[in-house]
Amino acid sequence: MTKILKINPISPEPSKIKEAAEVIKNGGTVAFPTETVYGLGADALNLEAIRKVFKAKGRPSDNPLIVHISSIEDLRLISKRYSSAALALMDKFWPGPLTLILKKKKIVSEIVTGGLDTVAVRIPDNKIALSLIKMAGVPLVAPSANLSGRPSPTRAKDVAADLSGKVDVIIDGGKTRIGIESTVIDMTTSPPTLLRPGGLPVEEIEKVVGLVQRLSVSHEKEPAKSPGMKYRHYAPKARMVIVEGDSEAVQSDIRELAEKSLKDGKKVGILAFHIDFRVKGCITKYAGSRPGTVAGRLFDLLRAFDRDGVDLIISEPYGGEGLKLGIADRLKRAAGHK
Ligand code: TXA
Ligand code: MG
Repeated sequence: MTKILKINPISPEPSKIKEAAEVIKNGGTVAFPTETVYGLGADALNLEAIRKVFKAKGRPSDNPLIVHISSIEDLRLISKRYSSAALALMDKFWPGPLTLILKKKKIVSEIVTGGLDTVAVRIPDNKIALSLIKMAGVPLVAPSANLSGRPSPTRAKDVAADLSGKVDVIIDGGKTRIGIESTVIDMTTSPPTLLRPGGLPVEEIEKVVGLVQRLSVSHEKEPAKSPGMKYRHYAPKARMVIVEGDSEAVQSDIRELAEKSLKDGKKVGILAFHIDFRVKGCITKYAGSRPGTVAGRLFDLLRAFDRDGVDLIISEPYGGEGLKLGIADRLKRAAGHK
């Protein structure tokens, strides 16, 4: 049975946080909000609890988990050493949507790290998350609280749709502020490497540590360094394609593809950012055009298309620098790069 615990995101009720923290201490699983997406939390030092997280999500065991802590002091427990550049990033951006890959200590199990000798760490910028970690008194593993491969959850009801009956507690702390996951930076390479663009623009990181190398995002040659990136991700149940080209061509191609698919008897959804689509018989959803708005809506809209039961989602292209880079990454993965 899964208990839903509604907690005030602005001033979390201590008694409710305590209840959730007890579940963690007893080796249970608790889904909780962060500023990016909801995470599925468990005691990062309890192997049985960690196994429950992999099992509930259906997550491949070679895809490592992020360890969430509530202060930089907590880092002493899990990471041996890190550079002054890493420290500068923590000082500037934690709590916040930045995950750093550091050398791990022995106490961090290879079950957490997928057999790697590094560990991913971050301090989330969310009052419920921070008080839960503090009250539990241990670092928490917390992958996004979705079934493996599905869009990440930005609301408690999305978590429940995927994990109800499979986890002990789901905290309902409202909608997450950012809507896409943290930026992941490998600090064990020189220069540092961007493993996953996300909520914190890489350009902001470069202002602190200088050049950050980008990995190619081609899906054929997935970087072995970031195990999670090789799996199909963020995917709606519907088939999804992105139509690229200049804006006039995009508009007419989407229209044409939509009309053809309708004729074939398909239920068609259009995901729009800039263009005003009115194709009769299609379900059009607008993600907005400002990156902050799009990030907040993207996963939610993908899930909404599924609830509508569409067979095909045709998307306008979206991309650029800053937060747009992370959004473009999620969009392309959702479409399986089609
Ligand atoms: O915003 C977020 O980061 C959310 C919230 C809940 O904190 N969490 C999240 O976790 O997105 P998850 O498990 O869905 O994604 C973690 C990513 C995966 O791509 C994984 O492969 C990568 O981080 N990762 C974890 N540990 C790693 C390591 N030691 N080396 C390289 N990549 C690692
Ligand atoms: Mg995830």
